[in-house]
Amino acid sequence: MSVEATMNKIHAAADMIRERCGEAEIAVILGSGLGDYVNALDDATSVSYEDIPGFPVSTAPGHEGRWFCGTLHGKRVCMMQGRFHSYEGYGMEEVTLPIRVMKLLGVKTLIVTNAAGGVNYDFTPGDLMLIDDFINLSGKNPLTGPNLGDFGVRFPDMTHAYDVELKKLALDVAAGLKIDLKRGIYCWFNGPTYETPAEIRMARVLGADAVGMSTVPETIVARHSGINVLGISCITNMAAGMLDQPLSHIEVMETGIRVRDVFRALVDGVIAKL
Ligand code: HPA
Repeated sequence: MSVEATMNKIHAAADMIRERCGEAEIAVILGSGLGDYVNALDDATSVSYEDIPGFPVSTAPGHEGRWFCGTLHGKRVCMMQGRFHSYEGYGMEEVTLPIRVMKLLGVKTLIVTNAAGGVNYDFTPGDLMLIDDFINLSGKNPLTGPNLGDFGVRFPDMTHAYDVELKKLALDVAAGLKIDLKRGIYCWFNGPTYETPAEIRMARVLGADAVGMSTVPETIVARHSGINVLGISCITNMAAGMLDQPLSHIEVMETGIRVRDVFRALVDGVIAKL
């Protein structure tokens, strides 16, 4: 697609959302288990992804497909109930379209949440992990193709993919809530297969603490356009080969549900203090 066609697509989606739901300064991508957090928004309006021009429709189980916007702690906050993954067959441009829309809607801070497999032996399912940095093992980059110069430069710096001040804030909020927030490196595999035990050993050697199938493309596109990102993973399971049991999506969802109140309290505490 040409730059002009891509820009038109992004503007069409943003214009529609602005009209229906308004603008926002903070955006939250709700990973598995966190979808109910939209109920915390005051005066919420929402629109189904199906009705947003150019938007893909999320197909992953446990992921809804609605854009919400409302007021939370006196701030305008939009929330994505359901996100797009590369493994669903969407191109990188589609997976990250919402991030560019956020930029046009005025978003300055993006909070990305996800479910991830724990690679670090010090983690336990149910732990929350502040994402310090990422490793991209997918072989994909959402900025491949002509640069969208209205959003950012050709070669964006990734020294601070996750914002230093936002990390400090999350750690402070966690301490105040007595949440033992772990920290670590999130490694993106494309999926939809879970990783093999050999891949997990490789990821550990490379410095990964958690593995997952999302978040990195959104982070890259957010940073390209100057949005500050905070990333938090819920360690829903130990990664492949670490325990003597196979992995299942049911386990991932059950852990997500078990810890969702704590996860939500952490995100909410951060938004209150932004
Ligand atoms: N691997 C990849 N993605 C995941 C996992 C995992 O073990 N758990 C939750 N999402």
